[in-house]
This record gives sequence, structure tokens and C-alpha cells, in this order.
Amino acid sequence: HDHLITSKQLSRADVETVLDRAAEIDADPSAVADRHAGSLLGLLFFEPSTRTKMSFEAAMKRLGGDVVDMGSVESSSVKKGETLADTVRVIEGYADALVLRHPKQGAATMASEFVDVPLLNAGDGAGHHPTQTLLDLYTIRENAGLEDLTVGIMGDLKYGRTVHSLAHALTNFDARQHFVSPESLRLPREVVYDLHQAGNGAGIREHESLEEVLPSLDVLYVTRIQRERFPDENEYQKVAGEYQIDLETLEAADDDLTVMHPLPRVDEIAPEIDDTEYAAYFEQAHNGVPVRMALLDLLLSNGGETDE
Ligand code: CP
Repeated sequence: HDHLITSKQLSRADVETVLDRAAEIDADPSAVADRHAGSLLGLLFFEPSTRTKMSFEAAMKRLGGDVVDMGSVESSSVKKGETLADTVRVIEGYADALVLRHPKQGAATMASEFVDVPLLNAGDGAGHHPTQTLLDLYTIRENAGLEDLTVGIMGDLKYGRTVHSLAHALTNFDARQHFVSPESLRLPREVVYDLHQAGNGAGIREHESLEEVLPSLDVLYVTRIQRERFPDENEYQKVAGEYQIDLETLEAADDDLTVMHPLPRVDEIAPEIDDTEYAAYFEQAHNGVPVRMALLDLLLSNGGETDE
């Protein structure tokens, strides 16, 4: 079945298929305005979301379809103790595809074993967020191109699921990847292992300071310290406020640098950067709609069956 759980599932050809379709849709959204009339997308968000949830909803509605939304944990029968397995088995009967966000890493993999309709992982704890990766790659392609690319990924590399997904996907494009974080928030060793397994080990470097790599970057991908994932608030306080950028920081950068962030930001990017040529993070958030339209169109047109 066409579940999308991690970016490791996506080949370069898969990514290009989605991005090319997204570009077509972006150029002429009216061409697909009724394409999935009558189709329903089930939204199951066990954690807060603004962008992912609303852009999936906008995408489905712009394809002529609609959504059925479980609502918050507080307002659903999850509150009465219903399991995730039972919840997805019930909601798959109401919808043609499911989108799941959950605080537990591995939740999407487990849930996908209980359903026949496509299940899209919209973030599983500190695990993966593959649809964010597709819109990140779309944004990179538009701003810097995906060939001969040098990317810096900075901030919370331990708990940042958008980072784990993006790093894997970039191995398809042989990007040079510089990971910048405090020692305590380095990439998990299993992610580094997987990047090496994907054949991109030589392109990976880890740093504690942005200074040494900033001039070489085409893209700087900044992330929020994921406070909600820290087992101990004291540990969060030790690293809070580190790895912020402002216009002074960017004086050492190439003029063509593209600054990205999956958002929400707290204080990692000074607002003075927002109106400069560097900033691509709001465009990035907006790209969530055409990219998710493309993904849903490909999945729903396929009848939920995989070609592979
Ligand atoms: N980038 C992202 O996943 O944002 P939300 O948490 O608002 O969905």
C-alpha cells in the first residue's frame, strides 16, 4: 500500500515526480479544481499543528475533495482511552486516505499496519516528517536548485524530525550536508549510520559553530529547539537561545544564500531577515499546499495501489 512513513522510502525519481506535479499544479491550480470531488481525507492530529494540518486541508479542498477531522485528543474518544490502532481502523472507513501526526516515534509505522487506505506520516515524535521534506525540496529546487548543493542544517538535530527526513532525502541528490548543533543535540547516531548506508557519508560533516561553514552554503536550514521533546526542562534551558541568526550573522554568507525554517520559529531567526532576499521560510510554508496537492493527487489517482 502507498503509505508514506519516512523519506527513506522516496527515491530521487519519486521525489522528482511529486515536485514536477507540484510545479504543474502551482502554475495552474484551476486545472485540478474538481479532480478529486467526492474524495475525503481523514485528519488525525494527536499533537498541535498549524501548517501541516491546514495545508493538507487546503490541498484536499483545492482538489475538489474535503476532510474529516478527528479534532483534538481532548475532544475525541482518544480521551476515553481508545487505542491508536482502533482509532485508525475506524477512521479509514470514513476516508480515502489518512494523515497522522502523533507524539510517539514509530506511531505511523504501527498505525499503517492496521489500515488499507494510504496513510501519510505528518510527524511521529522525533522520527520523521516526510511531507515536510517534499515541500522543503520543492523550495530548495526553486531557490537554489538541487544540483551541486551545499546545505547547512542547524539547531535541534536530535529531536528535529524535519531534519531527519530532509537529511535522508538529500542523499538522493548527493548534497554536501553540514550539521551545526550543540554537542547535546547532534544527529542521532542511527541517522548518521543511515546516511552513510545511503552512500552519502563522505558528504556529511558535523560542527558546533556556524561560522566555519556559513560562507560555503547555498541553503541554511534553521530549526527550533524542540522543547516538548526534552525529558528534563533543565536540559532545555542549557541550550535555549543558542544558534540564532540575524543580519549581522549573515554578513559572512553568500549573497545568494537561501534561509529556510520549517516553522514555527521561536527566536532562531531575527525578524529583520524576513523581508530580505535570504528569507524563504514563508514561501516554504506556502509551498505546502501545491506539494500536498501533488502528493494527494498521485495517491488518490492511483486508487491507493502502488506501482512498485
Ligand atoms: N512545519 C510544521 O510541521 O509545522 P506545524 O507543526 O505547524 O504543522
